[in-house]
Amino acid sequence: MPVELVFSILLICLFTLGSVSHSVSGEMETGCMDWRTHDTVVCCNKCFPGNRLVNTCGPDPKTLCVPCKDGTYTTNPKADACLWCTQCVGGAQVLKKACTQTKDTECDCKKGFRCGDVECSFCVEECGKGQEPNQARSCSNCTHGNFNDQIHAKCRPWTKKCPNLGEEIVFSGNSVSDIQCHPAIPKPEVITLPTKGSDSKDDRVVVLALTTFCVLFIILVICFLLIIKHNLTTSKRPAVIEKTLVEPTPPTDDPRTLIDVSFHQPQQEQGSSSESLHSQDSETKLLSV
Ligand SMILES: *[C@@H]1O[C@H](CO)[C@@H](O)[C@H](O)[C@H]1NC(C)=O
Repeated sequence: MPVELVFSILLICLFTLGSVSHSVSGEMETGCMDWRTHDTVVCCNKCFPGNRLVNTCGPDPKTLCVPCKDGTYTTNPKADACLWCTQCVGGAQVLKKACTQTKDTECDCKKGFRCGDVECSFCVEECGKGQEPNQARSCSNCTHGNFNDQIHAKCRPWTKKCPNLGEEIVFSGNSVSDIQCHPAIPKPEVITLPTKGSDSKDDRVVVLALTTFCVLFIILVICFLLIIKHNLTTSKRPAVIEKTLVEPTPPTDDPRTLIDVSFHQPQQEQGSSSESLHSQDSETKLLSV
């Protein structure tokens, strides 16, 4: 009993498989697929695929449609004529799939070529890197400032600048490559900008320090000079006194005395004892400051 059941199931399976495979791979069905009855005749609405309509109405639906002849096809179930199959004959075209009564030929292109449209009705040269397809179905080199790093694509302009901050252009680009950027190895512009600011700050500090130093130095020199002058006047004072003491002595023709006098004269004019005292005061004031 269970054996019979299994056997019958198997038979059913085989039968259905057989019928399906017959309808798929077997001869194409001919005639009208869908019709309406009018009195004593039938009128066809739809032919079987790959059939063309011969008569709209007739006694037998089988005779209303006939299959397309070899080398022709149709995709329209109500067409009264079949279409010629496309031939893959273009210079670079090759057959991809042969024509059937229900489907036109499928063409492809030889190696190094590409289909020029969706139906592959023509082929175009396949463009390499550094080139792009043109209107003449061949390739043009990318013009200067443009590049293409892919097969059969449009040239694109070089990137104008590096995408990230702190990068610099290490390669300016060619027909197959965009510009190339790398992080700047020595301190790049971006980092030098802030240091530039601090540099100018440093400069200011240096200038200030130098100025201060110079002013201090000048003050020191002035003080030093004043001290020397003070020392000179104080050391000269007894000489002046001596001179005044010497002066009354009768003049002689001795050249030494003459020199003495001529030397001492401006000294007396420049600073009297009272004047030098004043300068001494101002000197101490300066020093105390
Ligand atoms: C295109 O570029 C290649 C080299 O990159 C060169 O040999 C060829 O002559 C160029 N073709 C044209 C039409 O300029």
